[in-house]
Amino acid sequence: MSGTGIEGYRNYLAHSDGVADLLHRRLANREEFFETLEADPVRSVRAIDRRVFMQNLRRRRPEAGLSREMLFLLATAKLNQAERFGVDLGDTYGRIGGEDEPPERVYLALEEHYHTRLLAYVLDIFDLPFQVVVPPFVMRQFVKMEVFLPERFGFAFVGAAEMAGCIMFDELRRVGVELFADEPAVAARIERLYTEILTDELGHVGYCAARCSRAERALMRWLYPLFGRLFARQTAEISMLIDPKKLHARLDEPFNVDQLTAGLPNDTFLAAHP
Ligand SMILES: [Fe+2]
Ligand SMILES: [Fe+2]
Repeated sequence: MSGTGIEGYRNYLAHSDGVADLLHRRLANREEFFETLEADPVRSVRAIDRRVFMQNLRRRRPEAGLSREMLFLLATAKLNQAERFGVDLGDTYGRIGGEDEPPERVYLALEEHYHTRLLAYVLDIFDLPFQVVVPPFVMRQFVKMEVFLPERFGFAFVGAAEMAGCIMFDELRRVGVELFADEPAVAARIERLYTEILTDELGHVGYCAARCSRAERALMRWLYPLFGRLFARQTAEISMLIDPKKLHARLDEPFNVDQLTAGLPNDTFLAAHP
């Protein structure tokens, strides 16, 4: 991989994602990745009650007494809904892929599209469907602010949300691997899918940081733990899976890229440190 900063990130994206096809919402290498997964399907032996899952998908707070496995799957189904809402909104308003936009913006938008699909593949291990859920009111307003904020101002906000997203994906990846440790193929598949998202999100953090001034990067760092707390509060399942005290302590520490990338099989690229 050659280059540093945004230039280096462009090379990295072209290399790791391959050709970007905005019209068909496709990244060549991602499609290839999915083909490999589909050729080697993984099914859990656990019986997950589909009716209970569907019922709770639409609830703000899950019913009492659900297993940690069920909470993990609900969190997986809900985690990306705010981002999906934002990406679709940006799409609807023609914010993606303008002639005047730098090439990495198309890659970023397409990667976000794939995050929904990557999480849908996690659900598929348990024979659960992916469904669109409207994110809670507070999250909808939060996302609208991010989508419609003037670009100059937006990078610090979006960057902070991406940082918080990295922590959520990393935490849930760990929870998933631990919960299904007795089914090694399932744990490995969950890790693979979550890792793919985490790799992208780290790239997004670096990109946003690279587009920020020093002062904006400071704002990004300041907002990050606040956004992290907001995300965890807004998805009740996260607060039930991860001890809030531990999560808050992690969010209060400086953003630790080495910790996030330790043991990742994927190449990561950080255009700038937040
Ligand atoms: Fe994402
Ligand atoms: Fe992202």
